[in-house]
Amino acid sequence: MVVLYFLLLWIELHDVFPRASNVADTIISSQSLSDGQTLVSQGGSFELGFFSPGNSRKRYLGIWYKNIPIRTFVWVANRENPINDFSGVLMINSTGSLVLLIHTNGSGTVIWSSSLSKEADHHQINPIVAQLLDSGNLVLKDEKGSEPESYLWQSFDYPTDTLLPGMKVGWDLRSGLNRRLTSWKSADDPSPGDLSYGIELHNFPEPSMWKGHTKIYRAGPWNGIRYSGAFDLRPNPLYQFDFNLSQEAAFYTYQLKNKSVITRTTLSPTTNSYDRSTWVEVDRTWEVYVSVPRDHCDSYGLCGAHGICVISESPVCECLKGFMPKSPESWNSMDWSNGCVRDKPLNCPEDGFAKFEGVKVPDTTYTWVNTSKNLKGCQAKCLANCSCMAYTNTDIRSGGSGCAMWFGDLIDIRQLPASGQDLYIRMPNSELSMWANNWSKMKSAVVTVAAIATVSGMLIISLILSSFTTFKKKTKANNVGVCRNKDHNIEVQKEDQELPLFKLTTIANATNNFSPNNKLGEGGFGAVYKGALLDGQEIAVKRLSMNSRQGLTEFKNEVILIAKLQHRNLVRLLGCCIQGEEMMLIYEYMPNKSLDYFIFDQTRSKLLDWSRCFHIICGIARGLLYLHQDSRLRIIHRDLKASNVLLDDEMTPKISDFGLAKNFESDQNEARTRRIVGTYGYMAPEYAIDGLYSIKSDVFSFGVLLLEIVSGEKNRGFDHPSHSLNLIGHAWKLWNEGKPFELMNALYMDSCSVSVVLRCIHIGLLCVQQHPEDRPNMSYVVLMLDNESPMPQPKQPGFFIGRNPLEEPNSSMRKPCSNNELTLTSLEAR
Ligand SMILES: *[C@@H]1O[C@H](CO)[C@@H](O)[C@H](O)[C@H]1NC(C)=O
Ligand SMILES: *[C@@H]1O[C@H](CO)[C@@H](O)[C@H](O)[C@H]1NC(C)=O
Ligand SMILES: *[C@@H]1O[C@H](CO)[C@@H](O)[C@H](O)[C@H]1NC(C)=O
Repeated sequence: MVVLYFLLLWIELHDVFPRASNVADTIISSQSLSDGQTLVSQGGSFELGFFSPGNSRKRYLGIWYKNIPIRTFVWVANRENPINDFSGVLMINSTGSLVLLIHTNGSGTVIWSSSLSKEADHHQINPIVAQLLDSGNLVLKDEKGSEPESYLWQSFDYPTDTLLPGMKVGWDLRSGLNRRLTSWKSADDPSPGDLSYGIELHNFPEPSMWKGHTKIYRAGPWNGIRYSGAFDLRPNPLYQFDFNLSQEAAFYTYQLKNKSVITRTTLSPTTNSYDRSTWVEVDRTWEVYVSVPRDHCDSYGLCGAHGICVISESPVCECLKGFMPKSPESWNSMDWSNGCVRDKPLNCPEDGFAKFEGVKVPDTTYTWVNTSKNLKGCQAKCLANCSCMAYTNTDIRSGGSGCAMWFGDLIDIRQLPASGQDLYIRMPNSELSMWANNWSKMKSAVVTVAAIATVSGMLIISLILSSFTTFKKKTKANNVGVCRNKDHNIEVQKEDQELPLFKLTTIANATNNFSPNNKLGEGGFGAVYKGALLDGQEIAVKRLSMNSRQGLTEFKNEVILIAKLQHRNLVRLLGCCIQGEEMMLIYEYMPNKSLDYFIFDQTRSKLLDWSRCFHIICGIARGLLYLHQDSRLRIIHRDLKASNVLLDDEMTPKISDFGLAKNFESDQNEARTRRIVGTYGYMAPEYAIDGLYSIKSDVFSFGVLLLEIVSGEKNRGFDHPSHSLNLIGHAWKLWNEGKPFELMNALYMDSCSVSVVLRCIHIGLLCVQQHPEDRPNMSYVVLMLDNESPMPQPKQPGFFIGRNPLEEPNSSMRKPCSNNELTLTSLEAR
């Protein structure tokens, strides 16, 4: 009965509106398409006509697959304005637009029309036609025109819920056209549902999916290969895909590789997902094979700000390293929406960046992009702006390029099972230094490779092994006593801290009976051994050589001074051992040896990035400040140099070797000695020449050390092809030529902050000025390192021309010490 009715109707309509029978896929100005008639694309893939979806009786104009038995609509024209009868007619009006009319009371009413993508040329000779292409695209064009650019309008620009091969989702930035997908309300109702998918046009555009006004999924920005979060989007035999980002456009599109494959992506209102499905002819069914959101971790912002979603974990949400739940109570009850806050506040500009590997980068709403910057430039830019929270490359192809920076909270990060990228998140340096231990473990693989390649491989491997052993906090020593031995005239006053006295047998056992294998090196007055106490604590034992009493003064000095000092940037004396002829100092063991071991070695200095170097510089400065002014004593170290700065397992610098240190009365500012001790290259001129020492001579040494750390070069032994200046002179020359940055060790290029490096060089030059009164004191140095206050211009440094007078090769004064780096302890000035 119904069939008969339709048949009659069809015949009736057919009579009233002549069928476009001349060309199967085209209607021209004089023709129209009415309900009951269809256009079939030339290849026979798609059909355009009127339909009623599901159980609905309303009529819509749409496009569907011609050869698929399950009627599948890919486009709907009048989705918001359904027709209640069969009177719909599609035609081209006099102005060249495609219009959908209904007939009411004998006159036509337009219920849908193609907005003009392009103004029709009123003077054109050829008629305008509407054609259904075999791609499923309904286009309006000049009859002779065949280029997409000449289309006056195309249905591909006004997608409904389906993205066919060749369609675009995203923006035409010239016209402002935004191609978005919007789901049907239901299978019976093609009117716009609340699920939509489109490209958000931020500085760093990214697609996202919305349900009403709520973002429910974010694919992540395009990284040159795929969307950052689309780990499963990879080259495949079915289709190729691309994201086009330029001044004129920002869109995603895909093309079939094999034209006989039928595939599409659709927004599904029933599952709230965006699905790619493929027609499987043998099963006569649409097979969904990718669907987003894929899992719980794809739910937008599930873990809140600074949370990271790890799908393999239970629960899936964690705070990013360095962050903790903002509201632990709700976090623990699996409400992660409050997110996470920092463990330690930022301390801009003294921050660094932590690398998070294999992630989907955060929401790009508040981003800034410069595609010409590299990662290094990106870091510098981000570090320089205290509101920049993270950065990474915009394009991860061929090693990475471009710069994206994030501002504000970092939202919707997930750990990806594959194909994730690196994200560098701002962290206070104090946080980063806490991770240094993990860092050294992480890098150990790299070291191992380097180690194999070097002759001195064994040394480095032992370094790795030692850095793996975590330094245990000192448990109470069971052999406590006051370190006192009348025989050797070493007295530690009663009010002084108790210094444990170790038995010789304890130390002998700990060091494997001073086995050569345990020997770490030769210090100023004897060998240094590594050992382990019975409780597992690792120690370094400095043993005054038996055959020489030369170091006795230094030994006493060190015991007396260092026992009273406690600072995180000073090496800690655990005790001493005085028995018979043996005299030993027992220190905490520093697994990472000394600073010179790293900074002057090309391979090992790769393990230090700039933020770590800066951390070390600041630590030394604070240690020295403590000696000069903050401790109970007023101490001048007199032998500050790279090899006297030890590094613990977190690469925290510890000033060591107080053998030459002098205790000053607090009102005493300067002293003169006949016994000039110290190390060439680090000695201030007034001290080396006149024997005058003060806290300012330590400042000079600090300045030298600072320039050495920045440049990776030794002051003494510095060799430049074009001049004979030493490192100080070289730095001074570059400074005056306006290019101090060239002093920096190229290895830090990737990690450095230009402004902080320049600041360090500036401070270094201030410290090595010729006249002690011009040099800043350490509290001013620490202040200058800490903030960006203006600094005075440095004046001419001391000892900048090649060798200093004491170092002339034929000078008799050179004799006592043949090794440049060894502290000169026996040089007597006349
Ligand atoms: C294209 O796909 C069809 C159907 O899956 C297959 O039979 C044909 O071999 C494919 N052609 C190419 C060139 O891969
Ligand atoms: C982008 O970076 C390049 C290279 O650092 C720079 O020359 C250019 O000025 C930057 N552009 C903007 C808009 O900041
Ligand atoms: C930091 O970057 C933001 C965003 O680009 C900008 O608005 C702000 O002015 C910058 N601040 C500084 C100090 O450069």
